[in-house]
Amino acid sequence: MEDVEKPIPADDEVLIKLHAATVFTGDCEMRGFKFPISFWLPLRLFIGILRPKRPILGQEFSGVVEAIGKDVTRFAVGDAVFAASGGWGAYAQYICLSEDKPMVHKPENITHEAAATVPTGGLNALHFVRKADLKPGQKILINGAGSSIGTMAVQLAKAAGAEVWAVDCAIKLDMLRAISADHVIDYTREDFTKNDVTFDAILDVVGKSHFSRCLRALTPDGRYLLANPRIIPMLRGVWTNKTSTQKVMFALAGEKLEDVQHLADLLADGTLKPVIDRHFALEDMVAAHRYVETGQKIGNVVITF
Ligand SMILES: NC(=O)c1ccc[n+]([C@@H]2O[C@H](COP(=O)([O-])OP(=O)(O)OC[C@H]3O[C@@H](n4cnc5c(N)ncnc54)[C@H](OP(=O)(O)O)[C@@H]3O)[C@@H](O)[C@H]2O)c1
Repeated sequence: MEDVEKPIPADDEVLIKLHAATVFTGDCEMRGFKFPISFWLPLRLFIGILRPKRPILGQEFSGVVEAIGKDVTRFAVGDAVFAASGGWGAYAQYICLSEDKPMVHKPENITHEAAATVPTGGLNALHFVRKADLKPGQKILINGAGSSIGTMAVQLAKAAGAEVWAVDCAIKLDMLRAISADHVIDYTREDFTKNDVTFDAILDVVGKSHFSRCLRALTPDGRYLLANPRIIPMLRGVWTNKTSTQKVMFALAGEKLEDVQHLADLLADGTLKPVIDRHFALEDMVAAHRYVETGQKIGNVVITF
């Protein structure tokens, strides 16, 4: 923990006092630089060669606007907002963000803790569930469904009328049933590619599915969505897209304002219910990271200020 200068908003920025943020698995990977070797060089250039260019982690938050720059029109002092921070900066009591960023008003019936869990997992889930192009009754399998992205994807796929198969470890299966997954599979006991079910889409959140076996488990026009892609599956995906009627997709989600607003609307009307496992105070960030790194997190871990 360090004291840093309280940020001052530029003309197009708002200063937000944070109420809640999350520890996302991606934060731990960034902190520990735990990435496949093939991504080391581009990520070093992005994050910083010798040390992080932006030392405060934190990708999503909810809070209250404390001050605004003179050109700001979308927000006023006292507004409750939630946002994707653009990858950094949410592990702090204050953050400044341009009003053009993916930041929206928090629905009144949703707590700051719940709202903070939505931007990163929700934007990625929305992106991939849209790519899955599900028709009512079609089957989607979500691998790593107990994750931040997965819990949102299960609910978005259900809202699209799909039959949802959710794969994760045993301790997460009751939660997955509670958020309306139709079928749950414990990946430590069963390989979903060997159960003779054919899926219209497979969304792999954790990057641990077997490429060829997944293609065999898909319909002839099935969609294989890689939310956590590695180089070899990406290359194989490019080849599959050229030579087959099946589609492999791995482009990461953008952070669009209208998509965060769509997620806010789904939160407000109860379509999306964030799954929160544990809360940690900001001072206990180390314990929060350690907990997330155990892999035991069910849905989301929230930091409160
Ligand atoms: N903006 C971003 O940072 C961003 C964007 C897109 C994707 N991603 C990446 O997407 C990944 C997922 O993120 P997340 O936070 O949503 O995930 P998460 O919360 O870490 O959850 C991953 C889940 O997958 C389960 N799992 C592990 N091995 C499995 C297997 N072989 N089969 C099925 N399930 C398995 C884990 O359960 P166990 O308890 O058994 O481990 C856990 O429940 C991260 O690597 C992240 O970097 C990040």
